[in-house]
Amino acid sequence: MRLQNLAVLAAFVSVSYAQNLTAFANALQSLGATTFGSIASNLSSTPQGQTAIQTLLSGGNFTIFAPSNDALAAVPESVTSNSSALLDVVLYHVLPGSFSSSNSSTPFLMSATFPNHTLGRTLLNSTESEGNVSQVLAWTKEGNTISFLNQPTNVSVVNSTRVEGAQIDIYLINGVLTSPPTLTALVSNSTNTTSLGGLLNNTFIAGSDGSNTTLGNYLSQGTITAFAPINAAFSAIQSSLSSLATNQSGLITVLQNHLINGTALYSTEIANNTSQTSAAGETLHFSTNSSGTFVTSGSASAKIIQTDLLTSNGVVHLIDNVLVNLESDPAAASSAFASATSAAATETRAGPIAASATGPNSGSSTTSGGGSNNAAGALIMNLHSCTFSVATVISFVLGAYMI
Ligand SMILES: *[C@@H]1O[C@H](CO)[C@@H](O)[C@H](O)[C@H]1NC(C)=O
Ligand SMILES: *[C@@H]1O[C@H](CO)[C@@H](O)[C@H](O)[C@H]1NC(C)=O
Ligand SMILES: *[C@@H]1O[C@H](CO)[C@@H](O)[C@H](O)[C@H]1NC(C)=O
Ligand SMILES: *[C@@H]1O[C@H](CO)[C@@H](O)[C@H](O)[C@H]1NC(C)=O
Ligand SMILES: *[C@@H]1O[C@H](CO)[C@@H](O)[C@H](O)[C@H]1NC(C)=O
Ligand SMILES: *[C@@H]1O[C@H](CO)[C@@H](O)[C@H](O)[C@H]1NC(C)=O
Ligand SMILES: *[C@@H]1O[C@H](CO)[C@@H](O)[C@H](O)[C@H]1NC(C)=O
Ligand SMILES: *[C@@H]1O[C@H](CO)[C@@H](O)[C@H](O)[C@H]1NC(C)=O
Ligand SMILES: *[C@@H]1O[C@H](CO)[C@@H](O)[C@H](O)[C@H]1NC(C)=O
Ligand SMILES: *[C@@H]1O[C@H](CO)[C@@H](O)[C@H](O)[C@H]1NC(C)=O
Ligand SMILES: *[C@@H]1O[C@H](CO)[C@@H](O)[C@H](O)[C@H]1NC(C)=O
Ligand SMILES: *[C@@H]1O[C@H](CO)[C@@H](O)[C@H](O)[C@H]1NC(C)=O
Repeated sequence: MRLQNLAVLAAFVSVSYAQNLTAFANALQSLGATTFGSIASNLSSTPQGQTAIQTLLSGGNFTIFAPSNDALAAVPESVTSNSSALLDVVLYHVLPGSFSSSNSSTPFLMSATFPNHTLGRTLLNSTESEGNVSQVLAWTKEGNTISFLNQPTNVSVVNSTRVEGAQIDIYLINGVLTSPPTLTALVSNSTNTTSLGGLLNNTFIAGSDGSNTTLGNYLSQGTITAFAPINAAFSAIQSSLSSLATNQSGLITVLQNHLINGTALYSTEIANNTSQTSAAGETLHFSTNSSGTFVTSGSASAKIIQTDLLTSNGVVHLIDNVLVNLESDPAAASSAFASATSAAATETRAGPIAASATGPNSGSSTTSGGGSNNAAGALIMNLHSCTFSVATVISFVLGAYMI
């Protein structure tokens, strides 16, 4: 499309919207991310897709991970032909807030501020967690390479640009990001956690509706942080485990002392000498020394050996020991859950997930750095005072650029 034609379009939508759209299209094109642009263009034919694009272009910081054309060529037809599945893919690649470490025109993805992982909430909402919490993305930097954690295949950042005028940073990536699996799928899929996977599949409990369900299914509801013992940890306590095998309520209490109910606590929020309340109502204390970060429950302690394994309803950290604590405090558990739930309702979605300023045990996180983003989720109705539909304009501008 020619730039003159944009002037014509600008008569139909607000000038600044047309400018933002053009700048966005130009930025994607300069990175070679033309297929991503074409998908965005196609999605504007659905109300949800249109809302997402309008939100993105309406001002406020956003960070986009745009898969390369080669990466998107590998997405199966079953996804590309399904506009709702395709929108979910796109929403998982867009994060409210700035993750850029400088204001230079060539943005660099933040990864040094929160050593060693950076986590951000995407526009994709979890269907399992309360309050529509966002699905999260995590990445790390090794040498000069920024790569994503927890992905089935390695995906890294290969180029970046900033949309001038609009506060949007776009990072070209060499793969398509997959949103997190369920807890059961995650632990079953790693050779280090099959013991826990077996426990999740083979322990039956009464679900919230009273039905007989597996522990794994039960823990796929609500927001959950799990400190997951690796296989070697289970082997080491075989004798205690066999006595627990005949004491199901004891076994459940021990498991609950590995969980935080209602809160996803990421590595960047685990500070030295802070505490959380477990799902059994006991204190989970965190301490860091020269050999690592440890979690303690009662008299049991474990080293955290791998962090930020994301699940569709929370996060898993691997630990090297089972926290055999049979104590519980149901009142403390339900009060911790209540404050976590109310904190989640006011959660800031923009920018890196970092420790809350209000200190330990304050429930869910708030964020800092990256600024507030009230634009996220807002519908921009005042753009519509025209006969030309916004969808037509979006698909016309993006589509023409991206062929
Ligand atoms: C966009 O839609 C057109 C027409 O339906 C289709 O030919 C094209 O492949 C779509 N582009 C992408 C990237 O899915
Ligand atoms: C275009 O982007 C700028 C900068 O982010 C923003 O202030 C403006 O409101 C946007 N225009 C529209 C119509 O959304
Ligand atoms: C965008 O991010 C920059 C840098 O982090 C910040 O100064 C600015 O206030 C943010 N803008 C909005 C609208 O959040
Ligand atoms: C940084 O994170 C990566 C991925 O989790 C890990 O492989 C690496 O060991 C970590 N580096 C440090 C210094 O913790
Ligand atoms: C399990 O791991 C394999 C190989 O690492 C990967 O291809 C697959 O997507 C993973 N499945 C889940 C549910 O994470
Ligand atoms: C990186 O993107 C810029 C546009 O922002 C482009 O000019 C440059 O050629 C790209 N670099 C590579 C190696 O593709
Ligand atoms: C997981 O197991 C593999 C070998 O099976 C080992 O190389 C790796 O270090 C283990 N990871 C953790 C976090 O224990
Ligand atoms: C648990 O069950 C799921 C299917 O429900 C299966 O995919 C997974 O492999 C099982 N895990 C283990 C460790 O048996
Ligand atoms: C729950 O279902 C499992 C598997 O079908 C069964 O073995 C177990 O006895 C059931 N438990 C109850 C309390 O019904
Ligand atoms: C979390 O707390 C709620 C409300 O008390 C309860 O229904 C649910 O079973 C708890 N979940 C876990 C894993 O303890
Ligand atoms: C963690 O906190 C404890 C108690 O305040 C302190 O003794 C220790 O030095 C701290 N560890 C680190 C790594 O700062
Ligand atoms: C996700 O949830 C938030 C908070 O409830 C909401 O504002 C937003 O519209 C939802 N996004 C989508 C794509 O459904």
